[in-house]
Amino acid sequence: MDVDEILSGLYSEPGRQNPYPWYAALHAWGPVSAIRDRPEHHTVVAVAVGYDVVGSVLRDPEWRKGAAPGWDAQPILRTFMSSMMFTDPPEHTRMRAVFAKTFTPRRLGALEPVVVRVVDSMLDRIAEAGAGGAEVDFVAGFAQPVPALVMADFIGLPEAELAWYRQRVAWIDEFMDVAGKTAERLDRANHAAEELTAFYRDLIAHRRRCPGEDLISGLVEALDSGEVELTEDELIGNLIVLFNASFGTTAYLFSNGLPLLLSHPDTVASLPGDVALARGCVDEVLRMQNPVHFLARAAPHDTDLDGVPVRQGENVLLIIAGANRDPLRFPDPDRFDARRSGPASLAFGVGVHYCLGAAVSRLEGTVALPRLLARFPDLAVTRTPVYSGSLFLRGIDKLFVSTGG
Ligand code: HEM
Repeated sequence: MDVDEILSGLYSEPGRQNPYPWYAALHAWGPVSAIRDRPEHHTVVAVAVGYDVVGSVLRDPEWRKGAAPGWDAQPILRTFMSSMMFTDPPEHTRMRAVFAKTFTPRRLGALEPVVVRVVDSMLDRIAEAGAGGAEVDFVAGFAQPVPALVMADFIGLPEAELAWYRQRVAWIDEFMDVAGKTAERLDRANHAAEELTAFYRDLIAHRRRCPGEDLISGLVEALDSGEVELTEDELIGNLIVLFNASFGTTAYLFSNGLPLLLSHPDTVASLPGDVALARGCVDEVLRMQNPVHFLARAAPHDTDLDGVPVRQGENVLLIIAGANRDPLRFPDPDRFDARRSGPASLAFGVGVHYCLGAAVSRLEGTVALPRLLARFPDLAVTRTPVYSGSLFLRGIDKLFVSTGG
């Protein structure tokens, strides 16, 4: 199989259901491969899976995010382009500094009891729904509501609006898939961006009148006092991106992680009281089943990437989920080992765009997974998990379990 055949396989339905054999095939071709069979004007010219080369591109701030042509005519792209995730320094540096200030260890400490409360209340619901051996969908009953409720508390979103809000997040995520750029998906994502912008404008006006302890109140106060360099549109763009970045990813940390953990009963048996092992489980789940598979960067100048020529402005697809199974960096890469030593995985990215919420999702994972497994020692998956079919944000959307209760 040549590289173009591997990529077509990857984008096919079987590839979307299980991309890992295709990533292994790419590794066999080397850390970086040129894409030859591509439509004219297509700017993605190479694909990288090698851990070292993916890390070095991400660490180099000269490699840019770049902007999609005609972005300013589309509300969803305008929203993205007013956020830190989609911009390059110096805009990125300025916006990230404002938000980084709010992700303090004190705030994170204050979030821990919230996570415990949210997790335990979802576990109560699962116990109730699963009583008498009934099947429960772990995704709808736990994996999604936990991060949604935790982030709602963190940001200051009214709980009553969450179902409405999550639908808009789903429309935006659909559009983010590598093969998701259809006219219909673009329309829905544009519509979602407009509605979420209006929603935040109202919420900001409300918090201006009646401030609380939440992130939005704090940011509005900083904005109005001229303490930070951020416009209201940028505040809104970043809030939309922040929730979007936090929700699906952490939901998939749970839903992708549970089957992996259940197939390693020795690890589960050692979890109680071992916080380091719980952290190791979260990191190993993210290495092996990372929700974010692809990132992309554009070359700052004509260059040679491990033998593959890339011209200025051309894009390279960086498969972080493939880099996380690079056999040169992770011996026996398909084996789950929560006590694995060695380099950190690239699950949260690296460099200037390194995930701002990594500590938040690690906290959710290390609190939630041991509590779940301790509460239901006989928890079992009852049907074959159903994956999203997206390659950008990949994870299990339906996971039926029985609690053994
Ligand atoms: C398991 C959960 C998560 C995973 C796997 C994940 C993954 C990532 C990755 C790979 C990036 C880098 C993007 C790039 O380089 O282009 C990123 C950035 C980001 N993440 Fe996460 N993330 C997770 C959870 C969260 C949470 C909980 C939050 C918010 C509390 C969050 C907020 C962000 C933000 C704001 C950025 C953009 C940072 C920047 O551009 O400077 N993420 N995340």
